[in-house]
Amino acid sequence: MNKKNPRFKQRSRGKFFPAAILLFSAILIFFGIRLAGCLFTSDEAADGDAASKAASSPKRTINKDIADKVNKIAGSSVPPTSASLRTKQETPLSSFQDCYYYESANREGYTRYQSLNPEMPPDEVVWRVNAGLDGEFYTDITDISNPNDLYVVVNKRNRLSSSFIPDDMAALPSGVSARKDAAEAYRRMAEAAARDGVIFIPQSGYRSYDYQNQLYTNYKATDPGGADTYSARPGFSEHQTGLAIDLNIPGSGNLRDFVGTEQAEWVSKNAHLFGFIVRYTEKNREITGYVSEPWHIRYIGAEHAAKMKETGIISFEEYKVKYIDHQPE
Ligand code: DAL
Ligand code: ZN
Repeated sequence: MNKKNPRFKQRSRGKFFPAAILLFSAILIFFGIRLAGCLFTSDEAADGDAASKAASSPKRTINKDIADKVNKIAGSSVPPTSASLRTKQETPLSSFQDCYYYESANREGYTRYQSLNPEMPPDEVVWRVNAGLDGEFYTDITDISNPNDLYVVVNKRNRLSSSFIPDDMAALPSGVSARKDAAEAYRRMAEAAARDGVIFIPQSGYRSYDYQNQLYTNYKATDPGGADTYSARPGFSEHQTGLAIDLNIPGSGNLRDFVGTEQAEWVSKNAHLFGFIVRYTEKNREITGYVSEPWHIRYIGAEHAAKMKETGIISFEEYKVKYIDHQPE
């Protein structure tokens, strides 16, 4: 071969230059992306959780995808690591951490619950796990340590001790009692309703563990398949806190008579002004495990009852996580 031959030189340059430019551009893009990746993740390195954050960060996933494409153009290929494969399947921890109500103690619970519910948005996973909704009704039970707390959540997963009796009870009409603040709020509410020409009575308030046991046992005997959808098992009833009241129309002993009445409508519209929420609705049935009970109101104080109405949050379980245990900034 005659390398001095000008024809040879021309042919060689013609093939060499486009290939070199392509390779050079690919290398530039590749290193540019690597550098950008370092810059973007440097903030995270200051964080105590940096290792797991960096491993699961969506930015890292995107950068990795682009780098893979560049590697292909440049003619090399990096085999996917098990970490990068995991990143694509699992919700990144940072998606949970982005919620202001993230709790590091529940970190494993979020991952587990998300893998069982892959379509659920991560923010919903977080509040549900915080609220203990990742457990089964009457199976994954927590014993309540703060039964006197105004915001105590009693449900099919949170149990009151059989010996718990509130110590600040006050009397209401019809021989019913409730905790003092709830009873006072009830009186104010009943007076306001009466001024609007709407009369209701309290049919049931505080119920002891033993009384709830009798009620549930009777329902279960006559309606074994349905009892759990409307009656709490002993220890699992909000009535034992003294903060729940069942309302009815005068002269009726059957709570179902309350459904669809002007009293029910008034309560649904106004109870929050006096600190009560309607605790069991059709919308939150999946969360509480009870059918709708427009007569069962629960005292949480006027500020939170109004806020819950304003936010449109449908269950006390979710509200407590987002506005009592934590507060949005
Ligand atoms: N009816 C409600 C759920 C209770 O028994 O406490
Ligand atoms: Zn009730």
